[in-house]
Amino acid sequence: MIIYSGKDYNDISRKAANIMSAQIIMKPRAVLGLATGSTPVGMYRQLIEWYRKGDLDFSQITTVNLDEYKGLSGENEQSYRYFMNNNLFDHVNIDKSRTFVPNGLEKDSRKACSDYNQIIHTVGGIDMQLLGIGGNGHIGFNEPGEAFETETHCVDLTESTIQANSRFFNNLDEVPKQAYTMGIKNIMSAKKILLIASGESKAEALYRSLYGPVTPNVPASILQLHPDVTVVADEGALKVIREKELI
Ligand code: PGA
Repeated sequence: MIIYSGKDYNDISRKAANIMSAQIIMKPRAVLGLATGSTPVGMYRQLIEWYRKGDLDFSQITTVNLDEYKGLSGENEQSYRYFMNNNLFDHVNIDKSRTFVPNGLEKDSRKACSDYNQIIHTVGGIDMQLLGIGGNGHIGFNEPGEAFETETHCVDLTESTIQANSRFFNNLDEVPKQAYTMGIKNIMSAKKILLIASGESKAEALYRSLYGPVTPNVPASILQLHPDVTVVADEGALKVIREKELI
């Protein structure tokens, strides 16, 4: 595992974008596993800028996103499909038919999940998986306590995740209570992992994930067992790790 530190959010966004760009340049047909949330927005902005300058070509790239709220259509502004279009896909030369997000409108959870697993297998697996980390250590919507062996599945969101995500909705009741998410097994099958973390609210989770015991109670701790993980974190997110003088 390699840990790159950055002084602030802009710094880690640029560093993470450099790593993702290298993947795109070295393998123009790469399959990128992408993530939503506040953390990757700056990285996507940087990728768009480099695309506009002519430095990046997304024309042959395939993407698979980690998760989607169950019940939201891609037109809903809070859906992760909408987020991806808005924050990346609409601004680069990617073929949208090769951008995949779980189908939030599929009511049959088993079908939604098996269809998505099929897509991940059909595109040949993930070359580089981008991850944020939840304040509770979740990755994707793999919440604490879930088994590590899962592929795409339907999850009941925890109270803390619903609270954290309510900032994007008019009120708590509007936040979907379930989501489809890639499982830990899908994530661990990616050839490379790029985890980005920003801010003190992630410091404890990052410390426990990278240096604590590997346990389903801290889903991101499984990454200690992955052979190719790069972490890009700002000083806020590294606070506990620095205090303990681990780096
Ligand atoms: P955030 O979410 O980037 O909005 O902090 C990360 C996550 O919960 O996985």
